[in-house]
Amino acid sequence: MADYQIAPSILSADFARLGEEVDNVLAAGADIVHFDVMDNHYVPNLTIGPMVCKALRQHGVTAPIDVHLMVSPVDRMIGDFAEAGATYITFHPDASTHVDRSLQMIRDAGCKSGLVFNPHLGLDALKYVMDKVDMVLLMSVNPGFGGQSFIPGTLDKLREARALIDASGYDIRLEIDGGVSAKNIAEIAAAGADTFVAGSAIFNQPDYAAVIADMREQLAS
Ligand code: DX5
Ligand code: ZN
Repeated sequence: MADYQIAPSILSADFARLGEEVDNVLAAGADIVHFDVMDNHYVPNLTIGPMVCKALRQHGVTAPIDVHLMVSPVDRMIGDFAEAGATYITFHPDASTHVDRSLQMIRDAGCKSGLVFNPHLGLDALKYVMDKVDMVLLMSVNPGFGGQSFIPGTLDKLREARALIDASGYDIRLEIDGGVSAKNIAEIAAAGADTFVAGSAIFNQPDYAAVIADMREQLAS
């Protein structure tokens, strides 16, 4: 079986109790903390920045933190998030003028790098930089908000991305973000994803462990 990882998006957590929420979701079996950064410019919403990432590390979070930058410009944020303890830093190629440079900056800062593709966007920006990418993240909703519905056309794009990654021979994770739940996770995995972001599906339920166990059961079936 593939090395599947569940990445709860803290966008849907209770921000007034964020440290506790992250502890709870990790204790419930999550693998990675998905950290959504929005700037009210690239996307029409405003969330959290490097200080909050640093605060989670100081709180004692040791799990990988997967920083999803929905910001433009990108480069100014890279060093700050690396210093704040990010594990992955992913960004949208259409938000960076020099994608190759941004990817290299992330690796040079000691983090894992990733490219994020909005639903309408083809994978062209990936082709010539695969040697600098540790994660490909496909958006299955338009970015900016939690709780939206999975866009079915993303399944074909997942298959395309999976084929590109496998043909490249590089060790690149394939993450999906938006509208993921226990109901559709098996179909999404079958299309090639190995890393699953889920916000509202987890945090809107009282028992995080039950949701994550349900997801793993679906992945095993
Ligand atoms: C959307 C964010 C997602 C979001 C997912 O812009 O990138 O990570 O939190 O939320 P759900 O799982 O509720 O669709
Ligand atoms: Zn995200």
